[in-house]
Amino acid sequence: MTDEKATNVTWHNHQITREDRQKLNGHRGAVLWFTGLSGCGKSTIANAVDQLLHRQGVHTFVLDGDNIRMGLNRNLGFSPEDRTENIRRIGEVAKLFADAATIVSSAFISPYAADRELVRALLPEGTFVEILVQASLETCEARDPKGLYRKARAGEISDFTGIDAPYEAPESPEIVLDSDTKGVEELANEVIAWLKANDILPA
Ligand code: ADX
Repeated sequence: MTDEKATNVTWHNHQITREDRQKLNGHRGAVLWFTGLSGCGKSTIANAVDQLLHRQGVHTFVLDGDNIRMGLNRNLGFSPEDRTENIRRIGEVAKLFADAATIVSSAFISPYAADRELVRALLPEGTFVEILVQASLETCEARDPKGLYRKARAGEISDFTGIDAPYEAPESPEIVLDSDTKGVEELANEVIAWLKANDILPA
């Protein structure tokens, strides 16, 4: 999709800066970018982290694959180009939340490393936290919460990630969560501990 149609536009600097908002909120803005196969637990863990943060008085929001695809990105499918545009738009939205000193948890397969790196490049150093939710294809397929693997195996869905479309796992994510063997609560607490150890949350 071309993004060069917006001409004669001027950037306006806001009076209230990101730093002003962070000071008011008492914490930094950041993007917790959960990535992994469909059914690996991204949304569930992102929501668990969101709950823990919210209870601690942190300003948060969740951006979730299926939900965003029902609204903002309803005109996008699952071709490589559409997935790239999906992630580009989400990246820009996530950046706005981070600018507003919010900790946004995003849960998209985001199968292409280059697309995730473009989002990282949008954000101030140290505020893009790439979180690999590691679960084997066998695990995800056995869970099959939406019945989509079954449909993909039956040839009713094509270009399904992990079956006939690629997933490029991050090589050096900030956090790796072992969703094959650990439960949601334990994994959510691992994320919180990392955020405290890395100055995103006050210790
Ligand atoms: S992404 O690849 O563009 O990042 P996204 O996270 O937004 O994907 O959406 C993935 C969700 O869409 C899956 O969890 C699943 O529910 C649904 N889905 C429908 N078709 C496909 C497909 N061909 N491949 C992967 N997920 C699909």
